[in-house]
Amino acid sequence: MATRICPSILNADHSRLFQEIDQVLSADLLHLDVMDNRFVPNQTFSLNECREIIGYSRIPVDTHLMIADPDEKAVLYAEAGSSSVTFHFEASSNPTNTIAQLHNSGVRVGLAVKPKTTFEAIEKFLPDIDMLLIMTVEPGFGGQAFMVDQLQKVVQAREAISKLVNKAPWLQVDGGISLDTIAAAAHAGADTFVAGSAIYKSTDPKDMIKKLRELALP
Ligand code: DX5
Ligand code: ZN
Repeated sequence: MATRICPSILNADHSRLFQEIDQVLSADLLHLDVMDNRFVPNQTFSLNECREIIGYSRIPVDTHLMIADPDEKAVLYAEAGSSSVTFHFEASSNPTNTIAQLHNSGVRVGLAVKPKTTFEAIEKFLPDIDMLLIMTVEPGFGGQAFMVDQLQKVVQAREAISKLVNKAPWLQVDGGISLDTIAAAAHAGADTFVAGSAIYKSTDPKDMIKKLRELALP
């Protein structure tokens, strides 16, 4: 099982964003958190800013939409050049359709769940997606404490993924991932790790990516 580290630029210095992106080129994916002040009480990058970031980044961009109405808007982020687009189950009124639309746009498709959403609620979508994102904090802000109680959901998801035939969606965790928590998340079955403050508040982001990767090895 491959291990993927995805630095989140949410907690990077936005006044020097391009230099901040250049600090994490040893990572696998650049995690781009889009918030609209509706689905979550915070606002981040506009679609145009996303286009600039995606255009600049030399590593693939993993776009995490924390927005209302993803069924109408998700495709725009695929067309903007994202490598993967992840939308929230809780915000979607027709996940099946949005998954199909995104696939038609040529991106990898991720489905995200908030901490209170059960695995059972989204299990049926597993064969159709490329990544399941289990939030390990309430979405909206970086720098929050890792929710250990979400690990059980990761275990459940890994078990279900291992039973799929001809399909192995990536299993991503996002929120509070650090040197203290990444091994537990990996042990539970995650293979794709978002880390915001752990990487961007460290003095040496490249070394932090290396250390996180080592701790997450299966
Ligand atoms: C939170 C975002 C995360 C955030 C993670 O809603 O989805 O991607 O940037 O930040 P840390 O790693 O600091 O919890
Ligand atoms: Zn995120």
